[in-house]
Amino acid sequence: MNLKITVNGEKKQFDIEPNEMLIDVLRREGYKSVKKGCNMADCGTCTVLKDGKAVLSCKVFAASVEGCEITTVEALGQNGPLHDIQQVFVDESAFQCGFCAPGIIMNTMEFMDDIQQRENKVVPVSEIKNRLNGNLCRCTGYEAQLSALKKLVVKYGGEVEDE
Ligand code: FES
Ligand code: FES
Repeated sequence: MNLKITVNGEKKQFDIEPNEMLIDVLRREGYKSVKKGCNMADCGTCTVLKDGKAVLSCKVFAASVEGCEITTVEALGQNGPLHDIQQVFVDESAFQCGFCAPGIIMNTMEFMDDIQQRENKVVPVSEIKNRLNGNLCRCTGYEAQLSALKKLVVKYGGEVEDE
């Protein structure tokens, strides 16, 4: 079957099987930033944005995203300066092997968009920690990632409320 979607701002058409998952189509078509970790909706490495909302591409049927806008890390910082979000994670040395990075960055994109749109800009640390809950990282212990997220919350207009 034919799938028409927009990926990273470009209109695309892919031939897909009816039972294919979005992660497999994206990786086959060259979006290798989308990492396959557990393939069971547990680890968050496959996170992409679907119409601006973070989804686990290993549990989304490709056929269900007809007409949607999909965003992967390839959309950020291509052939130029890093995106603000990428730069803060780099500044904080928030990754080691980097396998979890694309998923965490896409999840953070949604989080920052949410902070910009909400009326109450006070963000408890517990909410920031919850944001990291869905993205497993085997290397870092999450401290540097938490620190990066706190800086990003402020950068995007929020106020961090310590516990
Ligand atoms: S590969 Fe999708 S959540 Fe782990
Ligand atoms: S930096 Fe290695 S899994 Fe997160």
